[in-house]
Amino acid sequence: MTGFGNHFATEAVAGALPVGRNSPQHAPYGLYAEQLSGTAFTAPRSENRRSWLYRMRPSAGHPPFALYERKCLVRSGPFDEVPATPNRLRWDAPGFGDAPVDFVDGLVTYAGNGDVAATTGCAIHLYAANQSMIDRVYCCADGELLIVPQMGSLRIVTEMGVLTAAPLQIAIVPRGVRFRVELSNGPARGYVCENYGALFRLPELGPIGSNGLANPRDFEAPAAAFEDVERPVEIVYKFMGRLWTTVLDHSPFDVVAWHGNLTPARYDLRRFNAMNTVSFDHPDPSIFTVLTSPSDMPGTANIDFVIFPPRWMVAEDTFRPPWFHRNVMSEFMGLIEGVYDAKADGFLPGGASLHNRMSAHGPDVASYEQAIATDLAPHRIEDSMAFMFESRHVIHPTRWAMETPLLQGDYDECWTGFAKARLPDIES
Ligand SMILES: [Fe+2]
Repeated sequence: MTGFGNHFATEAVAGALPVGRNSPQHAPYGLYAEQLSGTAFTAPRSENRRSWLYRMRPSAGHPPFALYERKCLVRSGPFDEVPATPNRLRWDAPGFGDAPVDFVDGLVTYAGNGDVAATTGCAIHLYAANQSMIDRVYCCADGELLIVPQMGSLRIVTEMGVLTAAPLQIAIVPRGVRFRVELSNGPARGYVCENYGALFRLPELGPIGSNGLANPRDFEAPAAAFEDVERPVEIVYKFMGRLWTTVLDHSPFDVVAWHGNLTPARYDLRRFNAMNTVSFDHPDPSIFTVLTSPSDMPGTANIDFVIFPPRWMVAEDTFRPPWFHRNVMSEFMGLIEGVYDAKADGFLPGGASLHNRMSAHGPDVASYEQAIATDLAPHRIEDSMAFMFESRHVIHPTRWAMETPLLQGDYDECWTGFAKARLPDIES
């Protein structure tokens, strides 16, 4: 099933989906009807996202939650552990330890902004896992999750069906949907944007027209699938920034049918239809926006997900890499594969950088020198996929992110050594 925000209807057992009404007095097979709302009941029709789930037991049937007492590096807004810094930050990629770590215990919050309770901002996590989640599931009540795998394929089992997501694909799990992450081919690492704000949607296209960038048909939603399992299953539940836990005596993946427009989804970044200049100048990177979470300030995103995919560079008389800039928006970058065209080294797959509001940044010296010396023949950027979470709100690093040895102490050095401009002699 394809489309983003489209209405879908799917059943794993013939006849399980009620026809013509959402909650009949007797749902088929004695299933329980449950509405999952991603927006307020009263959100405008164009914004409204909800699905109806038909399940073997109501999800209301669970014991009380208790605080999750195990080691946890997940943090949530408001982010105030350490002062937000105006310095440019960059991190090496996290490695893998010998101890078994699954997706939940492998989540580490690098930074974030806004406020969970106020439904603004986001948290930015990385995960590094070497084990599948076994007999436990994760559920985030604080925001929808945009998962960006960088290493290793994920099999994401959700209440609404199964998604797989490998590097160069992304997965979206709506707020409140329970899911389990299994590793398909060894250790897995990637990035997660936990969006507290308005739900991600495709950006408007304006003069581009009715096609281009990420096309709706390329977002894939899972077909209904369920497991009839009766053994203890832990739910790790994120609520107001903390993790909580409870144990069911059965799998919560017992949704036999569902319909609606609030769904998990997968998108393959290689399907992104990149737009670029065919004359001169380097366009603003907003031209590469895949998904946006708008804020109440027009055109100013709570969070944008932007990619830098393989593409032709053909601009004439143009400095082709990203220019030097100071941006009112704050930028957290990651690299899925290859080399990013503004950095010759130091920014590696699985690494990250943070350039906050008005911090001056741009190409390093080596990239600059190469760009002004090069012959501007058409050039294709190959085998590279960087991305950015860009936000109107300053992105605060966590204490862990400021103290980890992964933080590069010499990042500023990449902007030292630029030759001074040579002005003509001026008579005084
Ligand atoms: Fe930037």
